[in-house]
Amino acid sequence: MKGIKIIFLTILPALSNALTFNCMYFDKEVCNYNCQYYSETCKAVNMIITKPNQTVNKIFGLNRDKDQVHVLKIHDQLIRYFPMNISSFFPNIEVIQIWSSGLKTLSQKDLAPFTQLRELSVSRNEIENLSSDIFEMNQNLIKIDFSRNRLKHVGYFILKPLKHLIYVDFYQNDCINHGSQNGIEALTKKLRKKCKPTLEMMSEDLTRLNERVEMLELIAAEKSHRNRRCDSDLVPLDTLFPSIFIGSENQIEN
Ligand SMILES: *[C@@H]1O[C@H](CO)[C@@H](O)[C@H](O)[C@H]1NC(C)=O
Ligand SMILES: *[C@@H]1O[C@H](CO)[C@@H](O)[C@H](O)[C@H]1NC(C)=O
Ligand SMILES: *[C@@H]1O[C@H](CO)[C@@H](O)[C@H](O)[C@H]1NC(C)=O
Repeated sequence: MKGIKIIFLTILPALSNALTFNCMYFDKEVCNYNCQYYSETCKAVNMIITKPNQTVNKIFGLNRDKDQVHVLKIHDQLIRYFPMNISSFFPNIEVIQIWSSGLKTLSQKDLAPFTQLRELSVSRNEIENLSSDIFEMNQNLIKIDFSRNRLKHVGYFILKPLKHLIYVDFYQNDCINHGSQNGIEALTKKLRKKCKPTLEMMSEDLTRLNERVEMLELIAAEKSHRNRRCDSDLVPLDTLFPSIFIGSENQIEN
C-alpha cells in the first residue's frame, strides 16, 4: 500500500498537464483562399483547455498519416491557452484556424514549432496583447487574421519578419478596426498609432538587439508627442527608461 501511494504522488503532478487532442479528420476541403495548400485537416472536437502549459501527449481520432495533415481547425471549442506539443504529431501544419474558442493569449512559444505556417486565423477570441516577437519563427506567413478579438496593445515590430504577407485583418478590436486593404505599411502605421505596446512590451523589445535603434526612435517620437501635448498626467518616458533615454537622444542627434 505504501509503495502504491508513493507512485501516485510522484506520477500525478507529471500527468496533470497531459492532454489528449481529439481530431475529426477531413480530406481536402472546399476553401475560399489560396486553395493550393489546403489538404488533409484535423478539426478539433470536444476540447476544453482552461489552464496554460497543457501538453498534448496523444491524438485521438481516425488513424491517418499525420505527416499529410496540413490544416488544424479549432472552431467553437474552449481553448483559453494554446496547447503545447501538437507539432510533434503534425509536423507539416500550414494553416491554423482558431475561431470562437475563447483564446486569451498567443505568443512566440505557441507558434514557433510551426515553421511552415502560411495562414493563421484567430478570429472571435479574447486576445488582448500581441508581442513584437510572436511571428519571428513563422516567416512564411502570407495571411493573418486577428479580427474580433479584444486587442489593446500590439508590439511595434509584429509584422516586420513577414516578407510574404499579402493579407492582414485586425478588424473589430478594442484598439483598431482595420485590415491591410491599403497595404501592410499603412496598417503597420495604424497599429503603431492606435495599439501602442505596454511599457513591459517596449522593454522586452529593447532587449532584442535588432530592433534597438528603431525602438529608441519610436520612444523618442512618443516622448516628443507627449511633450507637445503637455500631458502632465503621463509619466515622463525618461523616468521610465532613464539610462536608455540618454543613449537614444545621442543616437538621434548623430
Ligand atoms: C508555463 O511554462 C512556461 C515555460 O515554458 C513558464 O514560464 C510558465 O510559468 C508556465 N506557466 C504556468 C502557469 O505554469
Ligand atoms: C509530445 O508528443 C510526442 C509524440 O509526438 C510524445 O511522444 C511525447 O510524449 C509528447 N511530449 C509530452 C511532454 O507529452
Ligand atoms: C495585456 O496587457 C495589459 C497591460 O500590461 C495587462 O493588464 C493584461 O493583463 C494583458 N492581458 C493579457 C491577456 O495578458
